[in-house]
Amino acid sequence: MAFSLRFAPPLGLALVLAASAGLAWATGADVIQARREGMKTMKSDVRILSEMIEGQGVVDPQTAARSARSLGEAARAIPGLFPEGSARPPSTARLAVWADWAQFTDLARQLSDAAEDLERAAVNGSFEDASDAFVRVTRSCRNCHRAFKED
Ligand code: HEC
Repeated sequence: MAFSLRFAPPLGLALVLAASAGLAWATGADVIQARREGMKTMKSDVRILSEMIEGQGVVDPQTAARSARSLGEAARAIPGLFPEGSARPPSTARLAVWADWAQFTDLARQLSDAAEDLERAAVNGSFEDASDAFVRVTRSCRNCHRAFKED
């Protein structure tokens, strides 16, 4: 399948896409699978963090920092895992992802920023900063799904 974009991508975006594990792989059938796996990894990171931050589990700063780092890495990978033309089944991504690419990538950036703040707070042992950042994390998941994902 030829790689094409309906609109001229900023150079940076083209480079990110090209760099994400190879263009051929990024446009292949596996890309939907790969981004769903990434989302599921984020879901389990969020679960680990919520157990700690919402007080049902033991607060372990190292585990929290590790989960936050994993979350940030997965969030930074999001733009490269949504190449143009990858909205086919079984994907539940809306076409709005590509029509509103700037907003989509901005939400991914909000998530990675929040995850980085969360990691820093965990390393510093600041529970309050960690819970503030965690609220921002879950808000970015929700905001992006509401705009860009079918139920
Ligand atoms: C920038 C947008 C964006 C952000 C931020 C985002 N998601 Fe998603 N998410 C999507 C889209 C789009 C899909 C649909 C992907 C597909 O099916 O191709 C999805 C799918 C999922 C799925 C379903 C995976 C599957 O196997 O069907 C889960 C679970 C998920 N996201 C969890 C999360 C969690 C948890 C967060 C926050 C930590 C998050 N997402 C943040 C856009 C986002």
